[in-house]
Amino acid sequence: MAPAPSADSAAALQDRVRRQFEVLYGRSPALFAIAPGRVNVIGEHVDYNGGWVLPAALDRCLVMAVAPRDDERVRLATADFEGGLEFDGRDLAPGRATDWSRYVRGVMSGLAHAGHPLPGFDACIASSIPVGGGLSSSAALEAATALAGLALTGATMDRFALAKLCQRAEHDYAGVPCGIMDQAAVLCCEEGHLLLLDCETETFVQTPLPNAEWSLLIVNSGVSHELASGEYARRRAACEQAARRLRVPSLRHIEPAALDEALALPALTEEMRRCVRHVVTENQRTRQCVDALQRGDFLAAGRLLNASHASLRDDYQVSCEELDFIAATAQAEAAVAGCRMTGGGFGGSCVALVRRTDAPDVMRRIGDAFQARYGRQPVAFVTSTGRGAHVINA
Ligand code: GLA
Repeated sequence: MAPAPSADSAAALQDRVRRQFEVLYGRSPALFAIAPGRVNVIGEHVDYNGGWVLPAALDRCLVMAVAPRDDERVRLATADFEGGLEFDGRDLAPGRATDWSRYVRGVMSGLAHAGHPLPGFDACIASSIPVGGGLSSSAALEAATALAGLALTGATMDRFALAKLCQRAEHDYAGVPCGIMDQAAVLCCEEGHLLLLDCETETFVQTPLPNAEWSLLIVNSGVSHELASGEYARRRAACEQAARRLRVPSLRHIEPAALDEALALPALTEEMRRCVRHVVTENQRTRQCVDALQRGDFLAAGRLLNASHASLRDDYQVSCEELDFIAATAQAEAAVAGCRMTGGGFGGSCVALVRRTDAPDVMRRIGDAFQARYGRQPVAFVTSTGRGAHVINA
Protein backbone atom coordinates (compact mmCIF):
# COMPACT_ATOMS: atom_id res chain seq x y z
CA MET A 1 0.00 0.00 0.00
CA ALA A 2 1.30 3.46 -0.81
CA PRO A 3 2.12 5.46 2.32
CA ALA A 4 -0.52 8.02 3.28
CA PRO A 5 0.54 11.54 2.24
CA SER A 6 1.88 13.59 5.14
CA ALA A 7 -0.31 16.42 6.41
CA ASP A 8 2.00 18.82 4.62
CA SER A 9 2.05 17.20 1.19
CA ALA A 10 0.46 18.94 -1.77
CA ALA A 11 -2.09 16.09 -2.07
CA ALA A 12 -3.20 16.42 1.56
CA LEU A 13 -3.43 20.21 1.31
CA GLN A 14 -5.42 19.87 -1.88
CA ASP A 15 -7.98 17.60 -0.18
CA ARG A 16 -8.30 19.97 2.75
CA VAL A 17 -8.67 23.06 0.62
CA ARG A 18 -11.19 21.40 -1.70
CA ARG A 19 -13.41 20.46 1.25
CA GLN A 20 -13.21 23.96 2.71
CA PHE A 21 -13.88 25.54 -0.69
CA GLU A 22 -17.05 23.48 -1.01
CA VAL A 23 -18.23 24.37 2.51
CA LEU A 24 -17.60 28.09 1.99
CA TYR A 25 -18.79 28.62 -1.54
CA GLY A 26 -21.24 25.74 -2.07
CA ARG A 27 -19.58 24.57 -5.28
CA SER A 28 -16.41 22.84 -6.46
CA PRO A 29 -13.16 24.57 -7.41
CA ALA A 30 -12.22 24.63 -11.10
CA LEU A 31 -8.47 24.39 -10.55
CA PHE A 32 -5.67 24.25 -8.03
CA ALA A 33 -2.57 26.45 -8.24
CA ILE A 34 0.27 24.92 -6.24
CA ALA A 35 3.33 27.00 -5.35
CA PRO A 36 6.26 25.91 -3.17
CA GLY A 37 8.23 27.90 -0.63
CA ARG A 38 11.93 28.25 -1.32
CA VAL A 39 15.16 27.81 0.55
CA ASN A 40 18.25 29.63 -0.62
CA VAL A 41 21.29 27.35 -0.26
CA ILE A 42 23.78 30.18 -0.76
CA GLY A 43 24.01 33.62 -2.39
CA GLU A 44 22.29 35.79 0.22
CA HIS A 45 21.52 39.49 -0.18
CA VAL A 46 23.17 39.52 -3.58
CA ASP A 47 20.13 39.29 -5.89
CA TYR A 48 19.55 43.07 -5.79
CA ASN A 49 23.28 43.51 -6.42
CA GLY A 50 23.18 41.64 -9.72
CA GLY A 51 24.76 38.56 -8.14
CA TRP A 52 24.33 34.78 -8.23
CA VAL A 53 21.89 32.89 -6.02
CA LEU A 54 21.28 29.18 -5.53
CA PRO A 55 17.77 28.50 -4.23
CA ALA A 56 15.64 25.34 -4.35
CA ALA A 57 11.89 24.88 -4.15
CA LEU A 58 10.80 23.28 -0.88
CA ASP A 59 8.59 20.24 -0.84
CA ARG A 60 6.27 22.38 1.29
CA CYS A 61 3.80 24.47 -0.63
CA LEU A 62 0.73 26.65 -0.78
CA VAL A 63 -2.35 25.32 -2.56
CA MET A 64 -4.96 27.73 -3.89
CA ALA A 65 -8.32 26.34 -5.05
CA VAL A 66 -10.05 28.69 -7.47
CA ALA A 67 -13.28 28.99 -9.45
CA PRO A 68 -14.26 31.93 -11.67
CA ARG A 69 -17.35 34.05 -10.97
CA ASP A 70 -19.74 35.81 -13.35
CA ASP A 71 -19.19 39.16 -11.66
CA GLU A 72 -16.14 41.19 -10.59
CA ARG A 73 -16.05 40.16 -6.92
CA VAL A 74 -13.01 38.43 -5.49
CA ARG A 75 -13.53 36.32 -2.39
CA LEU A 76 -10.54 34.89 -0.51
CA ALA A 77 -10.44 32.46 2.39
CA THR A 78 -8.08 30.01 4.03
CA ALA A 79 -8.67 26.45 5.14
CA ASP A 80 -6.97 27.17 8.46
CA PHE A 81 -8.40 30.42 9.78
CA GLU A 82 -11.92 31.76 10.03
CA GLY A 83 -12.91 34.89 8.20
CA GLY A 84 -12.63 35.66 4.55
CA LEU A 85 -11.71 38.75 2.58
CA GLU A 86 -13.71 40.24 -0.25
CA PHE A 87 -13.11 43.06 -2.69
CA ASP A 88 -14.04 44.44 -6.07
CA GLY A 89 -11.62 43.05 -8.67
CA ARG A 90 -11.71 46.37 -10.57
CA ASP A 91 -10.45 48.28 -7.55
CA LEU A 92 -6.79 47.30 -7.55
CA ALA A 93 -4.89 50.49 -6.71
CA PRO A 94 -1.98 49.93 -4.28
CA GLY A 95 -2.59 50.86 -0.65
CA ARG A 96 -6.22 49.71 -0.56
CA ALA A 97 -5.44 46.80 1.78
CA THR A 98 -2.93 45.88 4.45
CA ASP A 99 -4.10 42.27 4.85
CA TRP A 100 -2.90 39.36 2.71
CA SER A 101 -5.25 40.30 -0.12
CA ARG A 102 -2.65 42.91 -1.08
CA TYR A 103 -0.49 40.22 -2.68
CA VAL A 104 -3.46 38.97 -4.69
CA ARG A 105 -4.44 42.50 -5.68
CA GLY A 106 -0.86 43.31 -6.71
CA VAL A 107 -0.62 40.30 -8.97
CA MET A 108 -4.08 40.92 -10.44
CA SER A 109 -3.06 44.48 -11.20
CA GLY A 110 0.17 43.29 -12.85
CA LEU A 111 -1.73 40.80 -14.98
CA ALA A 112 -4.21 43.49 -16.01
CA HIS A 113 -1.33 45.75 -17.07
CA ALA A 114 0.14 42.85 -19.05
CA GLY A 115 -3.15 42.64 -20.94
CA HIS A 116 -4.74 39.87 -18.90
CA PRO A 117 -7.48 41.38 -16.71
CA LEU A 118 -9.01 38.71 -14.51
CA PRO A 119 -12.68 37.96 -13.98
CA GLY A 120 -13.96 37.81 -10.41
CA PHE A 121 -13.21 34.54 -8.61
CA ASP A 122 -13.57 32.63 -5.37
CA ALA A 123 -10.40 31.24 -3.84
CA CYS A 124 -9.40 29.28 -0.78
CA ILE A 125 -5.82 28.55 0.26
CA ALA A 126 -3.99 26.14 2.54
CA SER A 127 -0.26 26.16 3.11
CA SER A 128 2.45 24.15 4.82
CA ILE A 129 5.07 26.91 4.41
CA PRO A 130 5.72 28.51 7.81
CA VAL A 131 4.63 32.16 7.54
CA GLY A 132 7.38 34.58 8.56
CA GLY A 133 9.90 31.74 8.38
CA GLY A 134 11.98 33.39 5.65
CA LEU A 135 10.83 30.65 3.26
CA SER A 136 8.92 32.88 0.83
CA SER A 137 5.34 32.17 1.77
CA SER A 138 4.38 35.51 0.18
CA ALA A 139 6.16 34.72 -3.10
CA ALA A 140 4.25 31.42 -3.13
CA LEU A 141 0.96 33.29 -2.73
CA GLU A 142 1.91 35.67 -5.54
CA ALA A 143 2.95 32.83 -7.85
CA ALA A 144 -0.19 30.80 -7.12
CA THR A 145 -2.35 33.85 -7.85
CA ALA A 146 -0.45 34.55 -11.07
CA LEU A 147 -0.74 31.00 -12.38
CA ALA A 148 -4.37 30.67 -11.33
CA GLY A 149 -5.10 34.01 -12.99
CA LEU A 150 -3.49 32.99 -16.25
CA ALA A 151 -5.35 29.67 -16.18
CA LEU A 152 -8.67 31.49 -15.65
CA THR A 153 -8.08 33.71 -18.68
CA GLY A 154 -6.43 31.04 -20.84
CA ALA A 155 -3.36 33.28 -21.27
CA THR A 156 0.29 32.25 -21.00
CA MET A 157 3.36 34.20 -19.95
CA ASP A 158 7.05 33.44 -19.70
CA ARG A 159 7.91 32.19 -16.20
CA PHE A 160 10.62 34.77 -15.57
CA ALA A 161 8.41 37.61 -16.78
CA LEU A 162 5.79 36.34 -14.35
CA ALA A 163 8.37 36.32 -11.54
CA LYS A 164 9.10 39.99 -12.27
CA LEU A 165 5.41 40.78 -12.25
CA CYS A 166 5.14 39.13 -8.81
CA GLN A 167 8.23 41.01 -7.58
CA ARG A 168 6.57 44.27 -8.59
CA ALA A 169 3.48 43.29 -6.60
CA GLU A 170 5.72 42.79 -3.56
CA HIS A 171 7.35 46.22 -4.09
CA ASP A 172 4.20 48.20 -4.76
CA TYR A 173 1.63 46.39 -2.61
CA ALA A 174 3.67 45.09 0.34
CA GLY A 175 6.31 47.84 0.38
CA VAL A 176 9.23 45.40 0.41
CA PRO A 177 11.98 46.38 -2.10
CA CYS A 178 12.98 42.73 -2.60
CA GLY A 179 15.20 41.29 -5.32
CA ILE A 180 14.04 38.70 -7.84
CA MET A 181 15.25 35.54 -6.11
CA ASP A 182 12.14 34.40 -4.26
CA GLN A 183 9.66 34.81 -7.08
CA ALA A 184 12.08 33.31 -9.62
CA ALA A 185 12.75 30.33 -7.35
CA VAL A 186 9.09 29.63 -6.73
CA LEU A 187 8.24 29.86 -10.42
CA CYS A 188 11.36 28.47 -12.14
CA CYS A 189 12.78 25.74 -9.85
CA GLU A 190 12.60 22.13 -10.98
CA GLU A 191 12.34 19.06 -8.81
CA GLY A 192 15.71 17.55 -7.88
CA HIS A 193 17.56 20.74 -8.78
CA LEU A 194 18.97 23.93 -7.38
CA LEU A 195 18.42 27.03 -9.50
CA LEU A 196 21.68 28.83 -10.25
CA LEU A 197 20.30 32.24 -11.13
CA ASP A 198 22.35 35.10 -12.49
CA CYS A 199 20.36 38.09 -11.31
CA GLU A 200 21.97 40.53 -13.71
CA THR A 201 21.56 38.63 -16.96
CA GLU A 202 18.33 37.05 -15.64
CA THR A 203 19.41 33.66 -16.90
CA PHE A 204 19.49 30.44 -14.93
CA VAL A 205 20.86 26.94 -15.00
CA GLN A 206 19.11 23.98 -13.39
CA THR A 207 21.82 22.44 -11.23
CA PRO A 208 21.15 18.86 -10.07
CA LEU A 209 21.60 18.23 -6.36
CA PRO A 210 23.60 15.11 -7.15
CA ASN A 211 23.97 13.10 -3.97
CA ALA A 212 21.15 11.32 -2.16
CA GLU A 213 23.49 10.95 0.80
CA TRP A 214 22.95 14.58 1.81
CA SER A 215 19.77 16.49 2.46
CA LEU A 216 18.63 19.99 3.31
CA LEU A 217 17.49 20.55 6.87
CA ILE A 218 15.48 23.67 7.65
CA VAL A 219 15.27 25.00 11.21
CA ASN A 220 12.91 27.92 11.73
CA SER A 221 13.92 30.21 14.59
CA GLY A 222 10.31 31.30 15.03
CA VAL A 223 11.50 34.91 15.10
CA SER A 224 9.34 36.80 12.64
CA HIS A 225 11.43 38.76 10.19
CA GLU A 226 8.68 40.96 8.80
CA LEU A 227 9.21 43.94 11.08
CA ALA A 228 12.72 44.38 9.77
CA SER A 229 11.84 45.36 6.23
CA GLY A 230 13.23 48.85 6.96
CA GLU A 231 16.62 47.26 7.62
CA TYR A 232 16.36 45.36 4.35
CA ALA A 233 15.77 48.61 2.44
CA ARG A 234 18.67 50.19 4.31
CA ARG A 235 21.12 47.43 3.27
CA ARG A 236 19.94 47.68 -0.29
CA ALA A 237 20.40 51.46 -0.34
CA ALA A 238 23.91 51.15 1.18
CA CYS A 239 24.91 48.70 -1.57
CA GLU A 240 23.53 50.89 -4.32
CA GLN A 241 25.23 53.97 -2.98
CA ALA A 242 28.51 52.07 -2.64
CA ALA A 243 28.25 50.90 -6.24
CA ARG A 244 27.76 54.50 -7.38
CA ARG A 245 30.78 55.66 -5.42
CA LEU A 246 32.82 52.78 -6.84
CA ARG A 247 31.56 53.67 -10.33
CA VAL A 248 30.21 50.22 -11.15
CA PRO A 249 26.65 49.42 -12.31
CA SER A 250 26.27 47.05 -9.36
CA LEU A 251 28.51 45.38 -6.77
CA ARG A 252 28.55 42.25 -8.89
CA HIS A 253 31.13 43.98 -11.04
CA ILE A 254 33.74 44.02 -8.31
CA GLU A 255 35.93 40.96 -8.71
CA PRO A 256 37.38 39.37 -5.55
CA ALA A 257 40.88 40.36 -6.71
CA ALA A 258 39.80 44.03 -6.74
CA LEU A 259 38.11 43.92 -3.34
CA ASP A 260 40.93 45.39 -1.26
CA GLU A 261 41.33 48.27 -3.65
CA ALA A 262 37.58 48.94 -3.54
CA LEU A 263 37.53 48.84 0.25
CA ALA A 264 40.36 51.36 0.40
CA LEU A 265 38.28 54.03 -1.35
CA PRO A 266 37.88 56.89 1.17
CA ALA A 267 34.42 57.78 -0.20
CA LEU A 268 32.93 54.61 1.31
CA THR A 269 31.45 54.69 4.80
CA GLU A 270 32.23 51.84 7.21
CA GLU A 271 28.71 50.47 6.69
CA MET A 272 29.22 50.49 2.92
CA ARG A 273 32.59 48.74 3.32
CA ARG A 274 30.99 45.91 5.26
CA CYS A 275 28.23 45.59 2.67
CA VAL A 276 30.70 45.55 -0.22
CA ARG A 277 32.84 42.92 1.48
CA HIS A 278 29.83 40.69 2.08
CA VAL A 279 28.45 40.96 -1.44
CA VAL A 280 31.78 40.40 -3.22
CA THR A 281 32.79 37.45 -1.05
CA GLU A 282 29.27 35.93 -1.16
CA ASN A 283 29.26 36.02 -4.95
CA GLN A 284 32.56 34.19 -4.93
CA ARG A 285 31.31 31.64 -2.38
CA THR A 286 28.22 30.90 -4.45
CA ARG A 287 30.23 30.11 -7.54
CA GLN A 288 32.63 28.01 -5.49
CA CYS A 289 29.71 26.20 -3.89
CA VAL A 290 28.24 25.26 -7.27
CA ASP A 291 31.64 23.85 -8.29
CA ALA A 292 31.90 21.90 -5.04
CA LEU A 293 28.40 20.45 -5.41
CA GLN A 294 29.11 19.47 -8.99
CA ARG A 295 32.25 17.64 -7.83
CA GLY A 296 30.14 15.97 -5.14
CA ASP A 297 32.30 17.62 -2.47
CA PHE A 298 29.62 18.35 0.10
CA LEU A 299 32.08 19.05 2.87
CA ALA A 300 33.62 21.88 0.84
CA ALA A 301 30.13 23.17 0.01
CA GLY A 302 29.29 23.09 3.71
CA ARG A 303 32.34 25.13 4.67
CA LEU A 304 31.15 27.79 2.22
CA LEU A 305 27.73 27.80 3.92
CA ASN A 306 29.45 28.38 7.27
CA ALA A 307 31.51 31.24 5.83
CA SER A 308 28.35 32.73 4.32
CA HIS A 309 26.69 32.75 7.74
CA ALA A 310 29.68 34.47 9.33
CA SER A 311 29.65 37.12 6.61
CA LEU A 312 25.91 37.75 7.01
CA ARG A 313 26.32 37.94 10.79
CA ASP A 314 29.46 40.07 11.01
CA ASP A 315 29.64 42.11 7.83
CA TYR A 316 26.10 42.40 6.55
CA GLN A 317 24.60 42.26 10.05
CA VAL A 318 21.28 40.67 9.13
CA SER A 319 21.37 37.68 11.49
CA CYS A 320 19.96 37.51 15.01
CA GLU A 321 20.86 35.68 18.20
CA GLU A 322 18.53 32.74 17.60
CA LEU A 323 19.81 32.19 14.04
CA ASP A 324 23.41 32.38 15.27
CA PHE A 325 22.58 29.83 17.95
CA ILE A 326 21.00 27.40 15.47
CA ALA A 327 23.87 27.81 13.01
CA ALA A 328 26.53 27.27 15.68
CA THR A 329 24.72 24.26 17.15
CA ALA A 330 24.29 22.67 13.72
CA GLN A 331 27.86 23.44 12.65
CA ALA A 332 29.14 21.54 15.72
CA GLU A 333 27.40 18.34 14.56
CA ALA A 334 29.67 15.80 12.84
CA ALA A 335 26.94 14.90 10.32
CA VAL A 336 26.43 18.54 9.26
CA ALA A 337 28.61 19.78 6.39
CA GLY A 338 27.54 23.37 6.95
CA CYS A 339 24.74 25.61 8.15
CA ARG A 340 23.72 29.21 7.58
CA MET A 341 20.78 31.56 7.89
CA THR A 342 18.70 31.64 4.72
CA GLY A 343 16.56 34.40 3.23
CA GLY A 344 16.35 38.02 4.31
CA GLY A 345 17.40 37.39 7.93
CA PHE A 346 16.57 39.21 11.20
CA GLY A 347 14.76 35.98 12.04
CA GLY A 348 13.36 33.27 9.81
CA SER A 349 15.24 30.04 9.20
CA CYS A 350 18.61 28.35 8.90
CA VAL A 351 19.47 25.75 6.29
CA ALA A 352 21.92 22.92 6.97
CA LEU A 353 23.49 20.40 4.65
CA VAL A 354 23.18 17.21 6.68
CA ARG A 355 23.86 13.51 6.11
CA ARG A 356 20.44 12.09 5.32
CA THR A 357 20.60 9.11 7.68
CA ASP A 358 21.62 11.33 10.59
CA ALA A 359 19.09 14.09 9.92
CA PRO A 360 16.43 12.95 12.47
CA ASP A 361 18.98 12.75 15.30
CA VAL A 362 20.60 16.06 14.35
CA MET A 363 17.19 17.71 14.19
CA ARG A 364 16.29 16.39 17.65
CA ARG A 365 19.55 17.56 19.20
CA ILE A 366 19.27 21.05 17.69
CA GLY A 367 15.65 21.18 18.89
CA ASP A 368 16.65 20.15 22.44
CA ALA A 369 19.48 22.69 22.58
CA PHE A 370 17.17 25.44 21.32
CA GLN A 371 14.51 24.43 23.84
CA ALA A 372 17.02 24.55 26.69
CA ARG A 373 18.11 28.03 25.65
CA TYR A 374 14.87 29.68 24.53
CA GLY A 375 12.18 27.57 26.20
CA ARG A 376 10.46 26.47 23.00
CA GLN A 377 10.95 23.95 20.21
CA PRO A 378 11.82 25.35 16.78
CA VAL A 379 9.94 23.99 13.78
CA ALA A 380 12.43 21.88 11.82
CA PHE A 381 12.05 19.65 8.79
CA VAL A 382 14.05 17.93 6.10
CA THR A 383 13.09 18.97 2.61
CA SER A 384 13.78 17.51 -0.77
CA THR A 385 14.18 19.88 -3.72
CA GLY A 386 10.56 20.28 -4.79
CA ARG A 387 8.69 21.19 -7.93
CA GLY A 388 8.16 24.79 -9.09
CA ALA A 389 4.68 26.35 -9.12
CA HIS A 390 2.09 24.69 -11.36
CA VAL A 391 -1.62 24.40 -11.97
CA ILE A 392 -3.81 21.31 -12.08
CA ASN A 393 -7.45 21.00 -12.97
CA ALA A 394 -9.73 20.14 -10.07
C1 GLA B 1 14.47 38.28 0.77
C2 GLA B 1 14.20 38.95 -0.57
C3 GLA B 1 15.09 38.36 -1.67
C4 GLA B 1 16.55 38.35 -1.24
C5 GLA B 1 16.71 37.74 0.14
C6 GLA B 1 18.11 37.85 0.65
O1 GLA B 1 14.07 36.94 0.73
O2 GLA B 1 12.85 38.79 -0.92
O3 GLA B 1 14.91 39.09 -2.85
O4 GLA B 1 17.10 39.63 -1.31
O5 GLA B 1 15.85 38.36 1.09
O6 GLA B 1 18.97 37.09 -0.14
